[in-house]
Formats: sequence, structure tokens, C-alpha cells
Amino acid sequence: MKKVRIALAGFGTVGTGLAKIIRENEEWIKKRTGAVLIIEKVLVRDISKPRPFVPHPTTTFTTNPAELLEGNPDILVELIGGTSLAYELIKKALEKGISVVTANKALLATRGKELLSLAEEKGVGLYFEASVGGGIPIVETLKESLAGNRITSITGILNGTANYILTQMSQKEWDFSTALAEAQKRGYAEADPTLDIEGIDAAHKLAILIFLAHGVVYPFEKLRVEGITDLSLKDISFAQELGYVFKLIAQVKEKSGYLQAGVFPALLPKNHILAKVDGPYNAILLNGNAVGPIMLYGQGAGDLPTGSAVLADIISLVKNNKQVNNTGFIESPFEPAKILEPLSVVSEHYFRFSVLDKPGVLAALAGVLGEYNISIAQAIQKASPSERAVPVVFLTHRARLKDVKKAIKEIDKFDFIVNPTVHYPILP
Ligand SMILES: NC(=O)c1ccc[n+]([C@@H]2O[C@H](COP(=O)([O-])OP(=O)(O)OC[C@H]3O[C@@H](n4cnc5c(N)ncnc54)[C@H](OP(=O)(O)O)[C@@H]3O)[C@@H](O)[C@H]2O)c1
Repeated sequence: MKKVRIALAGFGTVGTGLAKIIRENEEWIKKRTGAVLIIEKVLVRDISKPRPFVPHPTTTFTTNPAELLEGNPDILVELIGGTSLAYELIKKALEKGISVVTANKALLATRGKELLSLAEEKGVGLYFEASVGGGIPIVETLKESLAGNRITSITGILNGTANYILTQMSQKEWDFSTALAEAQKRGYAEADPTLDIEGIDAAHKLAILIFLAHGVVYPFEKLRVEGITDLSLKDISFAQELGYVFKLIAQVKEKSGYLQAGVFPALLPKNHILAKVDGPYNAILLNGNAVGPIMLYGQGAGDLPTGSAVLADIISLVKNNKQVNNTGFIESPFEPAKILEPLSVVSEHYFRFSVLDKPGVLAALAGVLGEYNISIAQAIQKASPSERAVPVVFLTHRARLKDVKKAIKEIDKFDFIVNPTVHYPILP
């Protein structure tokens, strides 16, 4: 039987998960591919770390990156993360004509164009199913299953850590730091959770989805990226009272060839299909002009779900070695996206003003909003005997983000404003 020799960079959560599935499903993989997958060499940082599971009796471990490709493996699987050594290894493999499978969204979002161009030039595979949505097969869905559709919108919950935190804040009324500490305890959040809670990880994944859905490159630094660190329990409970839940949303919409894209916390009506995606789960809701709406839901991280996606790519390469499909496009997948300015986004909005309880305040707020064509759909005011500032919450009809920002700037100059105004978009 044919042997497929794999060089594996990284033997942490995903690397170990992958090796376990290869072992567990060995007979099944043989049946599907007619090949046996052998992880020949593994690159790690610390060779002395105990490794209770070893991929194969013949597997050797190394800490020397230069050794990894020495034996000309059939496939390099990159699962170390980061954008420097991972980049060097992938580039070297592609240059040598070795196909690569990676889960590295940070690298693909920032240098994907360069690496995919190199893979195309060399006629080898660079596959990355696990880079978005962990075990959810969104990459292949966009590349293959929906290839005939124009994708008009993608709205996703792409970061399980942030979603777990928001779910705990909503359901258990925990504040942000308590929810984050619990996420870390359960292994959903890294010791340094910045990429997750600041929306950067979701933005990396969004940049990849944009590329796959639209065949254009949206420069990562141009994405609107807002995280959940400033979201207060107060806003979460007002939203609940009004029939909404908060989610960290990654979204791209296409309008006449222009793309509007970003990651931001938003209110979703409780009956929205994404509002029910709780805990560490991910979901991606997309609209194709032929297929209509489709939602994919599943585990966006973890050893076996992510390992499952990596293995799918390996199997795909083994089966279609001579005809790789890296991008899903034959023509010009690397052109720059035509971008709609984030400030031109139109949506309904949630505002919370912190005001002194005195006559004329509501009229003054409504007056400024009116000047910027922002009309109020619902209002609630809650007086608390213990607090100097009274929260006033408005839900508005559709308004342009640019007008919202200008109105807030003006409103925050009033002497009755105690704390800066907060606002979030509401998704229909
Ligand atoms: N974890 C998930 O659920 C998940 C989901 C989707 C995508 N991903 C992506 O998958 C990749 C791997 O994630 P992971 O969670 O498996 O990471 P991880 O648990 O931190 O494992 C990283 C592995 O890479 C090795 N490594 C790191 N830096 C190295 C260096 N400079 N030289 C040699 N070896 C090095 C580590 O070696 P030691 O074992 O010696 O420390 C470890 O084996 C990342 O790109 C991540 O974004 C992860």
C-alpha cells in the first residue's frame, strides 16, 4: 500500500489531535485513500516535554526546523502557529514542491496572498480548512460546494472564547473578568487572550472567508476590528430586557461589487438563528444568490475537531495530488477588494447614555440625534437611588455609523452627560 510521509511542525493541541485521529481511523483512511499516513518527523520547541502519545513507532522528534524537510516528505503539516517560523517553513516546503496543510489563520490573513501565489506557481497544495471554524468545513464549502454562487453576505460567530465569555455574561450575569477567568480555567482561552477578546482572531478568519467567497484580498489592516473588552454587564442586561443578545460578529456584505466587512459586538434579536449559538461553539451564516441562506454550526476549536479539518485536507491532497485546488479560483483571486468605508455602514443602533436626572435631558438627546437623521424606535430610562448617573437607553431605526459617531461626539459635550455614551449596532 502507498505510504504518505508527513512532516509535522507542532505537536500541541491540534498536532496531537491529528495524530490521534490518524491512529484511530487508520483503516478507514486506507479505505478512502488507498494509502497509509505516517507522521515521520515532528518539530517541537521543547524536546524534554513528556509526550504520552507518539504518532507512530518510527516517528522522530526534533527541535531543529532545518531537519524537518530534509527527507523530502510528501506533505508538511504546519501546526506551530505564529507568523515567523511557520512562514519560513511553509515557504521552504512550497519552494521544494512539497504540499502544505496549515491551520494558521494569523499567517494566512496577513501573508496568505504571497504563500498561495507561490503554491500556485509551483503547482502544489496549500490547504487550510482548519484555519476558520475549527472542525466546521467552511473552507471546502466555499471553494467547492458553493462555487457557483455569488455570496452576498457572511455573518459568523468565529471565536469560541469570546462567545463563551458573552454567553456566561448573559446567562450567569458574570462580569467580563469573571467570565474570562472561567474560560481560561476550562482551556477555552489562552493565558494571553488578547487575540480572542480584541476580535483579532475573528478578523483573521474573516479575511480568509472574504478571500474564499469573493476571490479578492481584503488588506487585514483595513478591517474594522472591535472586541468585547469594553462590553458591560449593564448593556448585556438592557439588551436582554429589550429582547436581544450580544454576540461578537464577523461580517462581510457585498454591495454592487464593493465589500463592507468587520468584526464587532452587536445585538441580535433573541429569535435570530445566530443568537442561539452559545458557549464555545462557532457558526457561519451565509447567503448565496442561488442557494439562499445556509448555516454551518460546530466546534470552532479543540484537538479532535480541528485535527479532523487538518486530516480532511491531507486526505484531499492524497486523493487529488495531481490537481490541487488551493483557492477555488482559476482567474485573479489575488486582486484587491473594493472596499466600502466602515463608517458608511447603515444599521439600527443601541445607545446607552449616562445622564444626570434633570429636566430637558431626553429632549436634548433626541434633538441631536434628529439633527443627524437618527430616529428613536424605543427608549427606556432607569433611575437608581444609589447612582448619580441615570442610564437612558435608546434603540434607533436605521442610521449611518458616521452620523452615529458625529451625534455621540456632540452629545458627550453636554454637561448632563456623566460617562461617555456607548453604542452598538443591531443586526436584523
Ligand atoms: N487549538 C485549537 O483549537 C486551534 C483551532 C484552530 C486553529 N488552530 C491553529 O493551529 C495552530 C496550532 O495551535 P495549537 O493550539 O495546537 O498550538 P499549541 O498547543 O500551542 O502547540 C504548538 C506546538 O508547536 C510547537 N512550537 C511552537 N513554537 C515552536 C518553535 N518556535 N519551534 C518549534 N516548535 C514550536 C510547540 O512545541 P512544544 O510542544 O515543545 O511546546 C507545540 O508542540 C495555530 O496556528 C492555531 O492558530 C488551533
